[in-house]
Amino acid sequence: MTTRYGRWCLGAAVALVAMGGQTEETETHTPIASRWNYNEHLFPIFRDNCGSCHRDGGIGPMSLVSYQSAYPWAQSIREEVLGLRMPPWKAEDGFGDFRNGHALPAAEMDMILEWSSGGYPQGPRTLRPEPPGAPDEWPLGPPDLEIEMPEPFTLDTGTNELVRYFVLPTGTTGELFVTGADVMPGAGAVVRDVALYVDDTGTARALDAEDDGPGFGEVEGRDFPTTAPLALWSPGRQSVRQEDAARRLPAGADIVARVHYKKTWITEYQEFVDQSRIGLYVGDESDRAVESMLLSSPERTGELTLTFSRDVAEDVSALAILPEVSIETRDVQVVAVTPTGTRVPMLFLREPDTAWPTRYWFDAPIDLPAGSTIEVNAILHPGADHMPVRSLFGADSSAPIRLVLDYAAGAGAAAE
Ligand code: HEC
Repeated sequence: MTTRYGRWCLGAAVALVAMGGQTEETETHTPIASRWNYNEHLFPIFRDNCGSCHRDGGIGPMSLVSYQSAYPWAQSIREEVLGLRMPPWKAEDGFGDFRNGHALPAAEMDMILEWSSGGYPQGPRTLRPEPPGAPDEWPLGPPDLEIEMPEPFTLDTGTNELVRYFVLPTGTTGELFVTGADVMPGAGAVVRDVALYVDDTGTARALDAEDDGPGFGEVEGRDFPTTAPLALWSPGRQSVRQEDAARRLPAGADIVARVHYKKTWITEYQEFVDQSRIGLYVGDESDRAVESMLLSSPERTGELTLTFSRDVAEDVSALAILPEVSIETRDVQVVAVTPTGTRVPMLFLREPDTAWPTRYWFDAPIDLPAGSTIEVNAILHPGADHMPVRSLFGADSSAPIRLVLDYAAGAGAAAE
């Protein structure tokens, strides 16, 4: 019975495709063997999973939200999607749930694979979709405090990749409780990721004053406090605003934005001028304080695995996890074990890389009683080298794997 039904389905699909073939002129001789066409089926997938980066003026090297610019990439799309390199969201769905992104769902991956190897049909022209533009409004609503980089910064033609720090004075006179932070990139085609830090020590200002031009570069050994970034932004990740948990922002503190610029082969040798803006969302004093704990792996031995753990001394609600991997790793698994032995899945990363730093926000906070243990198990690729890279959250870079766990102290999770 299933076979008959299956055959009927297939027959119908072939007929549809044949009809599509008559009305469409695809510029290719690949026979159409895909049930899915761009205008009806692939466009929404590309728009929702790829379009925040792969659109005109976006960080991706080509747009995938118009057929004309997407179909020449069919083969490459297939390889990147199969290799789990695109979209660059590394957390496995179903092992921990996250509110700021998701892996490509299996059904949608299948459609992409069938379309890209099946002649990538365009579909009925009458259904041609309108490519979305860059968002011009703050996705989380108008921020309570909006601050712009004090001066524009020019990324010159000869520089392909650069990290630069900018000081954004808040000018606040009282303590604030920050429930969320977001970034509106000035030059969206080259702003890869932005980490925001709070500095009330004046260190970043002093570094800025010493350096010619807007902002300052990476400085060895002369640091401002970078533990627990206030926010970590990149295109395609939804920023998060919490309901009743907040980070303290001392009066008059500076926000330091660490902006990672990177060009692709399409933007290489172009000049860009960036003046990004940040938006802060503010709660009140009754919000629970968000804090962070650091977990660092031991140095690598000859083994293919790295295992480490950390005990949780008080009751906490875990809010988010920000992993950093500076060694070629097959996967990283993070599990919390409660005092009664219950294992709570937190994060499973497949083929993580350093190119796309991401803070993974749990869909709902995870309550961990005092006496719980956070266990990390990583499997490394044979022959993998540890390349110590500067940590986004001030971790010792001699540890090949480290992560920071953000939590609110006390039991009873921050309600959604
Ligand atoms: C967070 C931003 C982002 C998202 C989301 C994203 N990409 Fe990409 N993609 C990039 C960037 C940037 C590059 C250029 C390579 C690099 O610098 O890492 C790239 C490269 C590619 C390439 C290789 C192009 C080449 O130059 O060979 C393909 C194919 C691709 N992406 C497909 C996709 C598909 C399909 C999706 C969605 C399912 C997707 N990407 C989602 C940012 C993104």
